Amino acid sequence: MVRNGPFKGRTVAVVNDLGADEQLYLYRKARELKEAALAGRDVSGFRLDERDYQVYLIFMDDSTRTRESFRNAAGFLGSRVNVFDAATSSFNKNESIADTIKMLAGYAEDSAFVIRSKLEGVCRGLEGTIGRFAEQAGRPRPAFVNAGDGKHEHPTQEFLDEFSFLEQLDWKRDRIHLALTGDLYHGRTVHSKVDGLGIYKEVTVDLVAPELLGMPAHYVEKMRRKGYEVRLYESIDEYLAAGKVAPIWYFTRLQLERMGDAVLEKADSLRGALTFRRDQLGRLPEGARFYHPLPRDRAKPTNPQFLDELPLNGWDAQSANGYWTRIVLLGMVSGLLGADYQGARYAPESYEDDFVKEAPVELHSKPEYKVGIKPVEEGIVIDHIASGRPIGEIWDYVDAARRILSLNVRSSHGVYHTNSGDFKGIISLPDVTSFGERDLKKLAAIAPGCTLNLIRGHRVVKKYRLQMPPRIYSFDEISCKNPACVSAPAHQEGLSPEFLRKAPAAGESATTFVCKYCEKEHAFREIWDV
Ligand code: NCD
Repeated sequence: MVRNGPFKGRTVAVVNDLGADEQLYLYRKARELKEAALAGRDVSGFRLDERDYQVYLIFMDDSTRTRESFRNAAGFLGSRVNVFDAATSSFNKNESIADTIKMLAGYAEDSAFVIRSKLEGVCRGLEGTIGRFAEQAGRPRPAFVNAGDGKHEHPTQEFLDEFSFLEQLDWKRDRIHLALTGDLYHGRTVHSKVDGLGIYKEVTVDLVAPELLGMPAHYVEKMRRKGYEVRLYESIDEYLAAGKVAPIWYFTRLQLERMGDAVLEKADSLRGALTFRRDQLGRLPEGARFYHPLPRDRAKPTNPQFLDELPLNGWDAQSANGYWTRIVLLGMVSGLLGADYQGARYAPESYEDDFVKEAPVELHSKPEYKVGIKPVEEGIVIDHIASGRPIGEIWDYVDAARRILSLNVRSSHGVYHTNSGDFKGIISLPDVTSFGERDLKKLAAIAPGCTLNLIRGHRVVKKYRLQMPPRIYSFDEISCKNPACVSAPAHQEGLSPEFLRKAPAAGESATTFVCKYCEKEHAFREIWDV
């Protein structure tokens, strides 16, 4: 029997795939379940008991806690539980992940796939390809749950971390003050905090890491944009000396397997700055607690074994919370839970492709545009290309526009003065009378801000201003430049690259483009391969 709760078939590739109310629902249900189970009360409302619903665990990267807590959570739920053996599978015969999953989805009426991979954005990719495949076959769309993708995100770890913090805060959400320490550069669990902390009214985050292991700038910027107070320190000593120490500490291990040689060489000294010492104990505020997603290095832990028996140890209870929160998450995406959900309805962002705007035509006594020395009689002139930029860049844009639109026709181009004394690029196309929708969009994406002038009888009769489209997709000439992205051409997963426009932050002028899969931010010229 297919259940149809409001979260049925939802993909959780990033924390924000559940809206804030939905995250709170997850925490509330997990609390209800945990309390009932520990008190020996009836928990049958959390059991799906459906063997035709399969939870498939696909771990292409090492895992203990995440895999085992999901395996046990699925067992509690009463679904069919399958653990895929990625290491000996046809991935070694160069099969794509999408092909593998199409096949596995055929083994049950309905499925959730829990996936850990080095490929960033893998769940977002599968949500599209396998979702369409299921729809065509008249089957329910499977849910894809990200169990850690490269150094991108780890949303289900975030849910169990927040659940643990809420327990410590006695379920009050008015403010949180926490320190994140360790490898903030490579650690996906701390990257997921940026959105996960959004459930608190006031957030202060202290980032404690040497520069080489610092939180990537775009995450810091995102936290500040969200109104969090963010403070930076290079070592635990420096942090403790500064005062105003957080009562919640979140340690992370040095992600040696993700480091390049240059950082790896310095690993020991970096670890020194991030390892908690006994003599630092007295500097902690009353009731402080330490968390860690684990594993910790048994020889060189940053939260050393002397802490295990102290009330500071929050990480053991935290890892057990992975079980309760994952039962609830699977219960939600399987369609079992949600009948009592009353929060905001989740609405994925929609995009309006309104990138062409008609502009007023000014009347001039003389013909405006030329091909070489001749005025354009009939045709199209692209004006204001890269207006105001340095001359070298304008030539680059003119060149890119010509190549991307294959303008191999009689024409001329150049860099000229604008009325305000800056420079701009112009391409005159006397034999071209119209542009198709696709070419217009390409032009808008490659030279946003340019105008398209239709010339009839030497006069401009219509003028369109092209704006940066909200999405850039389905062009052969674009690709994500993050080598770990699932859509990067080298991985041959057959995904069509797609970028979403991101408005500039306060004080910045450049619009950037974010890969739909791995969320890497690109300068807009960077997305083009030409
Ligand atoms: C984390 C992970 O895999 O990102 N572990 C986990 O899921 N509990 C953290 C880590 O590996 O350091």
